[in-house]
This record gives sequence, structure tokens and C-alpha cells, in this order.
Amino acid sequence: MTLQQYLRQKGCVSVKCGCETGNCGLCTVHLDGKSVLSCTVLAARCDGRTVVTLEGVQEQAAAFGAFLADEGAEQYGFCSPGFIMDVLAMERELHEPTEDEIKAYLAGNLCRCSGYQGQLRAIQKYLAAKGERV
Ligand code: FES
Ligand code: FES
Repeated sequence: MTLQQYLRQKGCVSVKCGCETGNCGLCTVHLDGKSVLSCTVLAARCDGRTVVTLEGVQEQAAAFGAFLADEGAEQYGFCSPGFIMDVLAMERELHEPTEDEIKAYLAGNLCRCSGYQGQLRAIQKYLAAKGERV
């Protein structure tokens, strides 16, 4: 059983299923604080480790989500949970990231509705508001 299957079975329905092949980013969660694609991780390998889904970071997700909405970067939002989990991990790992660093970090998060410019603007404004990027 994959971590994605396990988490959804436990009711963490924010963990979406897009490709099940490690290519879309929709199933991103944090494993010991790092972003992982939960469809590529065996649940048994997570025994004793810390797994966080969007359900566990609702306050931070809402703060960033407001910037996404302001930029019109969310349409039906199926990609949003995985995307937001990756943005929150990036925020922890990269200090004052450049535009290219942001794009490289988030390259695995596919969105088929909105394009990526609105998402990029939302991230830049969010980081600037937190004093992490001007
Ligand atoms: S469902 Fe895991 S990367 Fe697409
Ligand atoms: S808003 Fe639909 S896939 Fe991103």
C-alpha cells in the first residue's frame, strides 16, 4: 500500500490522486518535514515517522491560499493541496528564493487550469508579505 492510499483511507482527502506515477505533484505531503510524493512512498516505510497533510497545516494553507485567490490562480483547485504543501516546504527550505529557484522547486506541480504565472505572482507576494522576499 502506498502512503497516498493509506492517508486517503484514513480520511485525509486533501491528498489527491492524479497520476500515481510520481509525475503530477497532486499527492504531495510532508514526511519528516520534507515534501514527498505520497504515491511513490510505501506506507510501511513511514512507520515511526512524521507525516503532515494539508489537514494539519490549515492556518498556513489559508494564509497562502488568500494570495492564490487574489491572483486568480485557482480555478477548480484540484492541484491546490499538493501545490500548497510544496510551497510551505519551499518556504522552510529556501531563503529569499529567486524566481528561477521558485520555478525549479515547484516544477513537479502540474496545474491544467490556471497556468503558472498567477501562481508565481501569488508566491512572490506571499513571501514578500512575510519579509522573505522583496
Ligand atoms: S498522484 Fe502522486 S505524483 Fe501524481
Ligand atoms: S486549478 Fe485545476 S489543475 Fe490547477
